[in-house]
Amino acid sequence: MLQGKRILLIIGGGISAYKSLELIRLIKREGGSVTPVLTRAAEQFVTPLSVAALAGHKAYTHLFDLTDEAEMGHIELSRSADLVVVAPATADLMAKMASGQANDLASTLLLATDTPVLVAPAMNVRMWLHPANQRNIATLEADGIHRIGPNEGDMACGEFGPGRMTEPVEIHAEIMALLANGPLGGRHIIVTSGPTHEPIDPVRYLANRSSGQQGSAIASALAGLGAQVTFVTGPARTAPPLGVKVVKVETASEMLDAVISALPADAAVFAAAVADWRVAEVAAGKIKKAKAEGPPALALMENPDILATVSQMTKGRPELVVGFAAETDDVVAHAAQKRKRKGCDWIVANDVSPETGIMGGSENAVTVIDADGPETWPRASKDDVARKLALRIAAALG
Ligand code: CTP
Repeated sequence: MLQGKRILLIIGGGISAYKSLELIRLIKREGGSVTPVLTRAAEQFVTPLSVAALAGHKAYTHLFDLTDEAEMGHIELSRSADLVVVAPATADLMAKMASGQANDLASTLLLATDTPVLVAPAMNVRMWLHPANQRNIATLEADGIHRIGPNEGDMACGEFGPGRMTEPVEIHAEIMALLANGPLGGRHIIVTSGPTHEPIDPVRYLANRSSGQQGSAIASALAGLGAQVTFVTGPARTAPPLGVKVVKVETASEMLDAVISALPADAAVFAAAVADWRVAEVAAGKIKKAKAEGPPALALMENPDILATVSQMTKGRPELVVGFAAETDDVVAHAAQKRKRKGCDWIVANDVSPETGIMGGSENAVTVIDADGPETWPRASKDDVARKLALRIAAALG
């Protein structure tokens, strides 16, 4: 999906420079090419040799590397890319960018380029929060520089907070979204997928048979059309697709929180098989079998309905909300009622009776119901259903 795209990757000198190796691998896997540039400090963390070996391209480190090419080698290099990615973008490198310095190869390329630039900052939390750094970030934003992250979490320096470089798969997804020229380029779409696990005690949980296959296929098809996808997944058997931002959750409540924090979005597709109920009181310790009163009675309470919550938002509702309806009888009638009750725009109905082999299987037979009524699609692979749905979404968003 990055076929023919050229990425100039500038690796700054930070502990997360090792993650840039994984980023190179992901870009190459999608058919993109990588021209690597290392700052002097980056060479302390990763070697030009390993970077060049993975990129399949010479790694540039000094301005003088370019004098043997053409006279204006650095100008050429900075403009021959479709996108310049700086990962990790250190505080120092971004300060140079913000003030327009050009005193080494990386900063010279960044000043000379006329192609879009994406930075993935990584630094100590105090450095990130420092007013000087925040001023630089604001300047870069005003200059139209794209930024992803930093993420919050434990840091190599032992502190906690914002400053960690975003994971390579997420940077890769952002690259795909920025370079996408598909019909969904520039659109953000949230997809939920997989089952949820609702704890009973620290070792047991309530779950369902969803494999997450249909949700993964939809997320992948949407990304393939150029969308920037946030993929909120429960503990599914199917691996999340490449090229999307993955948010892993366990329970329905966590899934709702993840969806709300991923907003705003142009569309949301709720393919997850969310547990309707959770155990009202989760035991703090493992419930013992040998109890005088016999097996425990599990009191259940209703989970939040994520699809209904988002469909009925009065502010910030995605333009298109798509739900799924897993039914075993009167499929279309039940699904049509569900669409009305929850307030979504489309509902994708499928028959999950065991004899259909759909739940956990690789095929699906669906009826898409919108305001104009039902449209039944022939049984097909979940990948084909996903592609057809992604194209329908692209057409609806226009
Ligand atoms: N859904 C949701 N949150 C829930 C339950 C369901 O977001 N707590 C979403 C699913 O992702 C799906 C749709 O609602 O898109 C319908 O799910 P389904 O299980 O078919 O419907 P239910 O609401 O559970 O209704 P019922 O059990 O009565 O069929």
